[in-house]
Amino acid sequence: MRVGVVGCGYLGAVHAASMAELGHEVVGHDVDADKVARLSAAQAPFFEPGLGELLERTLTTGRLSFSTDPADLDGAEVVFVCVGTPQRAGELAADTSFVDAAVAALVEHLRSPALVVGKSTVPVGTAARLAAVLERDAPHLELAWNPEFLREGHAVEDTVHPDRLVLGVRSAEAEKRLREVYATPIAQGSPVVVTDFATAELVKVAANAFLATKISFINAMAEVCEAAGADVVQLADAIGYDDRIGRRFLNAGLGFGGGCLPKDIRAFMARAGELGADQALTFLREVDAINMRRRSRMVDLAREACGGSLIGHKVAVLGAAFKPHSDDIRDSPALNVAAQVQLQGGDVVVTDPAALENARRLYPGLAYADTAEEAATGADVVLLLTEWPQYRALDPAALGAVVRRRHLVDGRNALDPAAWRDAGWTYRALGRPVV
Ligand code: UGA
Repeated sequence: MRVGVVGCGYLGAVHAASMAELGHEVVGHDVDADKVARLSAAQAPFFEPGLGELLERTLTTGRLSFSTDPADLDGAEVVFVCVGTPQRAGELAADTSFVDAAVAALVEHLRSPALVVGKSTVPVGTAARLAAVLERDAPHLELAWNPEFLREGHAVEDTVHPDRLVLGVRSAEAEKRLREVYATPIAQGSPVVVTDFATAELVKVAANAFLATKISFINAMAEVCEAAGADVVQLADAIGYDDRIGRRFLNAGLGFGGGCLPKDIRAFMARAGELGADQALTFLREVDAINMRRRSRMVDLAREACGGSLIGHKVAVLGAAFKPHSDDIRDSPALNVAAQVQLQGGDVVVTDPAALENARRLYPGLAYADTAEEAATGADVVLLLTEWPQYRALDPAALGAVVRRRHLVDGRNALDPAAWRDAGWTYRALGRPVV
């Protein structure tokens, strides 16, 4: 099929290349000329494992191209809208202006009939509103809503082999087209849920709200564990053996960040309020509060490790990305902690295998180092804030040889406390007993 993709960020770039991988002929559109140039040269504009190779492979087939001209989308049978919906400044609600602008551009430039498919995460009711715009201004365009569940760091795999496909449609024809687009994963067993617009929109935010709640649940348990002298990691392992609970997304620590979970739960609360259902989601305020409290608790532990004051102490921060296998620093808990430690007088050096360039841009006032060893040299305390595999694999003795004091705070419960204590380190973590 001829497929268009509007917006080539984390979602759209992966989606465009994956659609080409599935055999479609794809045009990816973005207003950012630099991004389009890089994508056209098979360079991923951000760190995403496998994306570079996928671009390389699909561009050489001739089935994939990128353009800054929206008119190049004309002729596509299906056009996916993959633009961002960030949190509005000073509000909880999402800013849908990029989605509105994308649809307006399609109304202007698509002459041939097409199915316009929203993938962006939007407040429930947005699809119905946009469908009315199309009906009025471009009746040759039909709308469908098909939320995306990909995880950064696993985006290619999640797109080519989705664990479910949710198709919000208003006609059998729209369903048929989307089933054609996703014929390969459907044949390979990806379950399909065909539903209305409102349910499709809500599935997405409900899934992210559930994941955020699961993380904050275990982090609330971590607070109780700390108060009671218990171990949250063992607690998570033990409750996780119950299939009804499951061990995944029960990793206690610094909590969730990124471009999705934090802003999605806030936008969900705001939208529920507009709908008169705010009481249903007041618990998400607590989920958010527990999550933000983890960051201040981490700063407290760093300060305690430095004997009660951060002033004049060198603090090595391992990790800047909001999670491993990504260079995304949007609402990164790691950088948030690094900045707070610096504000309290700490001499902070941050390292990360992929996100340093982004971090430097957003926090030019922090100091950076290329490696963990370099960051830790002369440090009074080492904070592990993003659990990259290379940090999990650090040798406590080797790192111990370069620091000034062997104090470690593991913000992700990613290291083996016994191994670090045996090498002469004090080991502290969120939700684990002090020895
Ligand atoms: C999240 C969802 O997992 C995806 O399904 C969804 O498609 C995506 O948002 C989106 O809305 O686009 P992502 O933001 O890539 O994906 O990251 P996650 O893997 O969900 O991690 C989010 C945060 O939670 C990270 O900061 C991570 O460190 C933290 N986390 C995760 C924990 O603190 N504990 C855990 O057990 C798991």
